[in-house]
Amino acid sequence: MTTEFPHLFKPFQIRGMALRNRIIAPPHGRIIADPQVSEADYAKYAAYWLARARAGLGWMDGVNAFIDNRMVPKGLRLAGLGAVIRGTMRKPNFRDVFSRFTDEMHAEGTAVTAQIIMQGAQPHSASGILANYTNNQSTHILTHDEIQRTIEEYAFTAREAEAAGLDGVEMHANHEDVMQLFISPYTNRRTDGYGGDFGARLRLPMECLAAMRAVTGPSFVIGMRFNMDEFFDGGYGLEEGLRIAKAFEASGYIDYIHCVVGNNWGAPSYVQPHVFRPAAWAEMAGRFRSELSIPVVYGGRVSDPVSGEAVIANGHADFVAIARAFFADADFVAKAKAGAPDTIRPCIGCNDCLHAAGIEGLPFGCSVNPRAGREAEPLPARVDAARRVTVVGGGPAGMEAAAIAAERGHDVTLWERAPNLGGAMRIAGAVPENAQYLKFIEHQHKRLADAGVTMRLGEAATAQTILAEKPDVVFLTTGSRPRGIDVPGADHAFVVEGRDVMAGKAQVGKNVVVIAKEDHMQPLTVASYLAEQGCAVRVIYQAPGVAPGVGKYSIGGILGKLTGRGVAFTVMTRVAEIAPNRLVLRDVYSGVAHEMTGFDTVVLACGGTPDAGLYDDLLGKVPELRIFGDAYVPNRILHATRQAYENACSI
Ligand SMILES: Cc1cc2nc3c(=O)[nH]c(=O)nc-3n(C[C@H](O)[C@H](O)[C@H](O)COP(=O)(O)O)c2cc1C
Ligand code: SF4
Repeated sequence: MTTEFPHLFKPFQIRGMALRNRIIAPPHGRIIADPQVSEADYAKYAAYWLARARAGLGWMDGVNAFIDNRMVPKGLRLAGLGAVIRGTMRKPNFRDVFSRFTDEMHAEGTAVTAQIIMQGAQPHSASGILANYTNNQSTHILTHDEIQRTIEEYAFTAREAEAAGLDGVEMHANHEDVMQLFISPYTNRRTDGYGGDFGARLRLPMECLAAMRAVTGPSFVIGMRFNMDEFFDGGYGLEEGLRIAKAFEASGYIDYIHCVVGNNWGAPSYVQPHVFRPAAWAEMAGRFRSELSIPVVYGGRVSDPVSGEAVIANGHADFVAIARAFFADADFVAKAKAGAPDTIRPCIGCNDCLHAAGIEGLPFGCSVNPRAGREAEPLPARVDAARRVTVVGGGPAGMEAAAIAAERGHDVTLWERAPNLGGAMRIAGAVPENAQYLKFIEHQHKRLADAGVTMRLGEAATAQTILAEKPDVVFLTTGSRPRGIDVPGADHAFVVEGRDVMAGKAQVGKNVVVIAKEDHMQPLTVASYLAEQGCAVRVIYQAPGVAPGVGKYSIGGILGKLTGRGVAFTVMTRVAEIAPNRLVLRDVYSGVAHEMTGFDTVVLACGGTPDAGLYDDLLGKVPELRIFGDAYVPNRILHATRQAYENACSI
């Protein structure tokens, strides 16, 4: 056993479920594939989980068991991640698929439980009110008949899970599940015995749990994932959360409680973005651990073994749940156990694993780990004959491409004109919430050195210097230049580039206007940096909302942090002219003009334009020339590393 993380690697037993350590993977992997759809999907899904199991994962609490929702009238179409009509266990292949999966996981030493989900507002709710200020979706209020049907489905689902050989099930009473909507005083306004007083609000989940217990055996584990504090006016707070948890414990129905926070689409959401510190709500879980006697799981921003160990060592929980960090590194547990936490590829908390695949409809991917979701594919093959590969630009695309090419056996040189690797990612690392960016760059630097890449840092490559190396392949990953803004007055000395400000190359005054013409993180990161410096900041967006490209799981937490520091936003507004202490503005849609005064500096956060100058100079002069990442089209880190993988695997 490692001596570095003794608490993490201490075995535990819950009923018949023997656990070799205290690390749980909560639900997150079905975004890669639904194993019930086809053999190919099964292979993808199982390969993802088996890779984590082989690395030593103790408990996979991640079989998503959506309960059958065929109460919805025919023809009603539902949208969203939890919009499931045919229950997981009602599909004819459930037992075949999940007994095979469970057997394979058990053979690797990992316990398997399913989470039973009835996502709220898909379309059901307790009384038509949802658990957040920003979610105004209309819902169907469950009738008595439907409540009885729901209870039967919970029992059926638990029985099927046991029959398939799973170790247990977990009730999803968090994340605006119908169960949470019944428990909460804000969302449950019923007066029919399933709402009203405290006990009546708990009645539906209690009856579901009782029904599950009644049909399962004594060694089968039943737990509950629970929102500790709803964090909004009218919802339950921590003290009532404790009272609710005690009532469930007293019922004898649950063997453990899995403590989390977050709501639809607040600050935090239930997949908490990078602006929150590691294990930020663990102390709250500690209250549950000290006041209950059943085991407590804590989940939320545990992304490294050090913070995981601390949660358990400090007595805040018996287990830690880790989701995104498993996308980022399949070998998380093995590396922790080996006492090598620094070799774990760090998750940067960007939430693109969720936003890209779950919302934008893109294939699944992880920004820092292009292998995530491809575990069923062979590893990038070693080459028989090494080629001379020159990579120009050491940002996310260049670092990943150079590392993979060298790991495959090529002879790689990486040029970076700045003295350090990272490109725009390093600049963005100047705000405290992006500290993980710097860790990731450090990780890549070490990986490049280990793979034998020749790094020419602080040297700007030219066509001549590149050609002098006689490369077989050139990857241009030179990133982007600031796009700027084309309006009268943009050349005033008080108009400066956001990147220059964050790199310490441009000064600002105390009152700053940020012109945002990029829809993702750049304007928000610049605003955060300025607020950290003590500036009064107003960000002007042309878009009808703030940062329309940032997904709903992240935006609330980020804006909560910024507005909490006084950053103000103006939307639907075009800057038509910049004059000393006066901006001429126009409403984007009506064209109505107005003015803004009271600032001393204008900072541009207008995204990038490809820095691809070397392409024309090299075209036709090297055997193979490829351009990707921001140098081709500026985009998010997810896209840069994915292109790097595809390109570096195909030379
Ligand atoms: C792609 C994805 C899917 C998720 N699906 C579920 C789910 O079905 N049920 C659930 O309770 N939590 C779900 N979560 C939330 C995670 O289980 C976890 O609570 C959250 O990501 C915070 O933990 P982390 O900081 O370790 O990622 C999901 C998270 C991700 C990233
Ligand atoms: S996409 Fe981002 S948040 Fe998701 S696992 Fe990868 S690094 Fe972490």
